[in-house]
Amino acid sequence: MAGRSDEMGAAPFVPEERSIPILGEAVQKCRGCELYRDATQAVFGEIDAGASKQTSRVAIMMVGEQPGDQEDRQGRPFVGPAGKLLDACLEEAGIDRDRVYVTNAVKHFKWEPRGKLRIHKKPSAREIRACRPWLNAEVEAVKPRLIVCLGATAAQGLLGSGFKITQEHGKLQQATGLPPILATLHPSAILRAPSDEDRQRQRASFVQDLREAARFADGASKPRRRTVQE
Ligand code: URA
Ligand code: SF4
Repeated sequence: MAGRSDEMGAAPFVPEERSIPILGEAVQKCRGCELYRDATQAVFGEIDAGASKQTSRVAIMMVGEQPGDQEDRQGRPFVGPAGKLLDACLEEAGIDRDRVYVTNAVKHFKWEPRGKLRIHKKPSAREIRACRPWLNAEVEAVKPRLIVCLGATAAQGLLGSGFKITQEHGKLQQATGLPPILATLHPSAILRAPSDEDRQRQRASFVQDLREAARFADGASKPRRRTVQE
């Protein structure tokens, strides 16, 4: 039947105000698709894991797929193994972590049980569409110079289902109504590479794409370098 909440998507739950704290609170009440049911909480976007204060304008918005097991428990994006790899590669590419806003195409963790484990399940095209109003609101609130799509889910969500990361990664793309977009590998895909050699190769390609993103996002103004504290 028409009018059911799973067809409506997130739009009715998104407040007018374009402020990340307000949006991040409202997303907890979203019932725009079924995924909220089995998740611990919604995981909204944020700036940085470790930076103490926000000092400069966000240059890059990174869009992953959906929260993983750790993210679902902690309520923050990219805090698990994929996030650790992302942090290392951002540093290697010379990107200040406090100028990066990290989020996901889908805000609730989709999973299926395998024994005691919760195994990641790929979100459907319908779920990605349902969740899109949150991503649009984030883009409007954050106004990044560049969006970096991590992996095919985010890339195809923003650039169309025919988009091929293998062919188009690292190149600037334009989609109507959005800032420039650059797509690259998903750090989880790198972690799953079948051999060490593949992993090294994919990681190098990922860092190279991030360097390209940095070059573009920096534009005329030089980013302020900050020392990363361990
Ligand atoms: N993978 C994602 O796509 N997003 C996260 O937040 C964590 C892992
Ligand atoms: Fe709403 Fe997105 Fe969660 Fe679905 S996945 S309930 S659309 S926040």
